[in-house]
Amino acid sequence: MAVVALTSASGSPGVTTTALGLALLWPRPVLLIEADPTGGSNLLAGYFRGLREYQAGLIELALTAIDLADALAEVAQPIEGTSVSFVAGTRSHTQARAVRELWAPLAEVLSEVEATGQDVIVDAGRLGLAGSPEPLLEAADLTLLLARTTLPHLSALRSWAEAFQRDPLDWHQAGVLLVGEGQPYSAREVAGVVKLPVVASLPEDPESAAVFSRGAQPPKRVETRPLARALTAAIASIHSTIAERRNDLLEGTRS
Ligand SMILES: Nc1ncnc2c1ncn2[C@@H]1O[C@H](COP(=O)(O)OP(=O)(O)O)[C@@H](O)[C@H]1O
Ligand SMILES: [Mg+2]
Repeated sequence: MAVVALTSASGSPGVTTTALGLALLWPRPVLLIEADPTGGSNLLAGYFRGLREYQAGLIELALTAIDLADALAEVAQPIEGTSVSFVAGTRSHTQARAVRELWAPLAEVLSEVEATGQDVIVDAGRLGLAGSPEPLLEAADLTLLLARTTLPHLSALRSWAEAFQRDPLDWHQAGVLLVGEGQPYSAREVAGVVKLPVVASLPEDPESAAVFSRGAQPPKRVETRPLARALTAAIASIHSTIAERRNDLLEGTRS
């Protein structure tokens, strides 16, 4: 049972695509929270191609007068035919200010979500934006920094990775998830310059990515395509990274 947050250091490496891809392949029920302060629900506009109406989401959570854990269960919308439910993001960046106060109390109730048998995946958008959901990153068992492997992406990644390393307690546990590995740099090369572990790597697979990012028709046997296979491997790696860390913590309390 875990809370996993996805974020990026620069550009648009594929945070939303990867968060949804992981959620849809997750082996247990999972709650996907769209916490990108940029605003606009990427899921409703992208994966659902604007065909699904906005019903409730973060802004209703921010304004709720009832218990936050109950409100969370009410605003979460199921993705039919899957064991994923999602909390839609703000409808525009102008609402970011209103949800800013939500992050800290929401971070606290995420452990209650875990108790209901759901894991949580947070799409935190890009780091450093006004209204960034930092308390959710801090509450996560694992925060994954997504980056492409081009030089501009890697230089931004390196400076954030250093900040994460300086403040390990605040960020619990952080790792890197590479998108489009090998274009041009490999995971090994990235690991050599960024002082955070590379937890997983996803290949460049635009056809499969388009299914998650804009609701494109899935290619034939999408589950055997490179992205789906790499997402499945990424899930295993995320779980073992979190399990190792929990073991270390347990041993630390025993010794
Ligand atoms: N593994 C991938 N292979 C190829 N294209 C990808 C991959 N992941 C994401 N993309 C594409 O990158 C673009 C940006 O993705 P998105 O998830 O919206 O990024 P972000 O949330 O970081 O802004 C989209 O067009 C998406 O289809
Ligand atoms: Mg996004």
